[in-house]
Amino acid sequence: MKLKKFFERAVSLGINYDPRGKERIAKMLKKTKEKEKKLEGKEKELFDVERTWNPFPDCRIIAGTDESEFTHLMVGIDIETPELLLADRLRSQGKKIDGMLIHHPEGRALADLDKVMPVQIDLLAGVGVSVNQAEGLLRPRMEKIWRAIHADNLFRTERAAELLGFSAVCCHTITDNLVWAFMEKHICKHEYDDLGEIVNAILEIPEYKKFALKGNPPIIVSGSRSSRPGKICATEFTGGTNGPEEFFEAKARAGVGTVLSMHVTEKSLEEAKKHNVNIIQCSHMASDALGVNLMLDDMKKVDPKMTFLEVSGFIRIERKKW
Ligand SMILES: [Fe+2]
Ligand SMILES: [Fe+2]
Repeated sequence: MKLKKFFERAVSLGINYDPRGKERIAKMLKKTKEKEKKLEGKEKELFDVERTWNPFPDCRIIAGTDESEFTHLMVGIDIETPELLLADRLRSQGKKIDGMLIHHPEGRALADLDKVMPVQIDLLAGVGVSVNQAEGLLRPRMEKIWRAIHADNLFRTERAAELLGFSAVCCHTITDNLVWAFMEKHICKHEYDDLGEIVNAILEIPEYKKFALKGNPPIIVSGSRSSRPGKICATEFTGGTNGPEEFFEAKARAGVGTVLSMHVTEKSLEEAKKHNVNIIQCSHMASDALGVNLMLDDMKKVDPKMTFLEVSGFIRIERKKW
């Protein structure tokens, strides 16, 4: 597959499962295009054209050209210079590797991480929190993330990839949308007597089972195995990074009983406990791997020749459908 084809397909897959909905995204992209036409001077010069078609600021091609071959991939949750050196070493031993598929954003995809966070507004709207309230709570947190990332050394991975001749793509919110949709469908929509039953259901999913066998199982961090679940939602799986801790009070007021999460900040955990919201912290790497797997299943349908070399927290599990 060519790099451009891979990424365009990834973006459209992410849109299909986005909490914002296809129509809202189409409207947003149209507005961005109209805005672009009116720009002048420095604003025009610095405008990111990618934003006119790709609604995921934390997903982009960070190395390679549109026509680069992207068939034999090294796939990792985090890929930085050490993984690139590993790829180079393996390549020199005869392993075929064209490029890197990276989950956690690097380069410009990381620089723009805060800009994907409004997805959380629609995610919360889905469980009954008003959009104005969610937006008001989210803004300060977005600014905090923007300032924190702004000081990072952002472009190390893309430079290392360029020097070693590997193309590289970051797909973050795209695959997190997939795992969110998967958890909503296969876990949240069902009835359970207690949290213990939910944990057991999560352990039926191969990625979680594999990580549990390695000592990284889903854990109940708020509530206990015998706690009643109430309304279950997977609101902590997509949307860039953790939302503000105030979200837990808002969710509690909207009637949420149990939140499935990949990772929880201490402050959020405190808030959740205060408002009696249960949290099951599912394995972060298993969750990210699951999202990436769902995307790769789709890619493999288009190009059966594709191969995936698992590194850095990624494990490959194939599914015919879900
Ligand atoms: Fe993720
Ligand atoms: Fe992650």
